[in-house]
Amino acid sequence: MKSFDGSVFLVSGASSGIGEAAAVSLQQRGAVVYGLTSSASTLASARERHPAVHWLSADVTRRSEVDTAMAAVLSEAGRLDGLVNNAGIYTFASLEASSEEMMRRQFEINVFGTVFLTQAALTALKDSRGTIVNVSSTSAHKAMPDQSIYAATKGAVESLTRAWALELARYGVRVNAISPGPTLTPGIAKIPMPREMFEAAKEQILQTVPLGRMGTPEEVAQWIVTLADPAVTWLTGQIVGIDGGLGVS
Ligand SMILES: NC(=O)c1ccc[n+]([C@@H]2O[C@H](COP(=O)([O-])OP(=O)(O)OC[C@H]3O[C@@H](n4cnc5c(N)ncnc54)[C@H](OP(=O)(O)O)[C@@H]3O)[C@@H](O)[C@H]2O)c1
Repeated sequence: MKSFDGSVFLVSGASSGIGEAAAVSLQQRGAVVYGLTSSASTLASARERHPAVHWLSADVTRRSEVDTAMAAVLSEAGRLDGLVNNAGIYTFASLEASSEEMMRRQFEINVFGTVFLTQAALTALKDSRGTIVNVSSTSAHKAMPDQSIYAATKGAVESLTRAWALELARYGVRVNAISPGPTLTPGIAKIPMPREMFEAAKEQILQTVPLGRMGTPEEVAQWIVTLADPAVTWLTGQIVGIDGGLGVS
């Protein structure tokens, strides 16, 4: 018997990168997985790649879309055992170059999106004594230039994680987060910068990450799965760095 057999999970941002790897891994371990994407077009290609995952589309910044998606999960599956708040964006810029729109968008998706989805899932997670895994970033606790706004959104995610762990412990709901370092995902590859700059940034990462490389989505997602595992019963309120040692360097 697989440890996730019979459990139902919702993974946001499941159409790409870390979220996609987490959704596939949970599904392969026996969970019924609902993958959330932000648009119908990304949903179609995600469904083609992973037909065994159930796909839903909702922009996490829109509460009504989030509530509708959650209602669909509950009416179809009848329960929810785990929520993975992975949907997120990163835009790197100096403080001077950080526009109001760029700041608001990152807070809307990374922070409000996480809150909206968690609020929508709360009753079902209390009923199942389920679990939440949030996705933070090394940037939340290791200061780096040109990342202040993104880092602040992930600092908020870590604060939410610790506070929710306390608030929900009485219902048996465990809340943890992973804090990935640089991970080679489609999102990272799409950061708008000239190819040479991207290669130079990668080279710099090789020098700063103690293990000397970027992570893969699969080796990060494996820790989402571990924290969510029903066999892990005595861990809550923790932020686990999955970063090749960057966080302690
Ligand atoms: N990659 C890294 O180096 C790294 C490092 C530390 C932390 N992280 C964090 O890890 C998470 C995943 O990163 P990634 O690199 O795997 O990203 P990615 O490849 O760009 O994928 C991002 C996912 O988020 C979804 N998403 C974006 N905006 C959304 C919205 N408004 N509503 C619903 N879904 C939305 C996207 O869905 P659509 O495709 O449908 O838009 C996509 O599935 C993020 O929270 C990121 O901050 C990443």
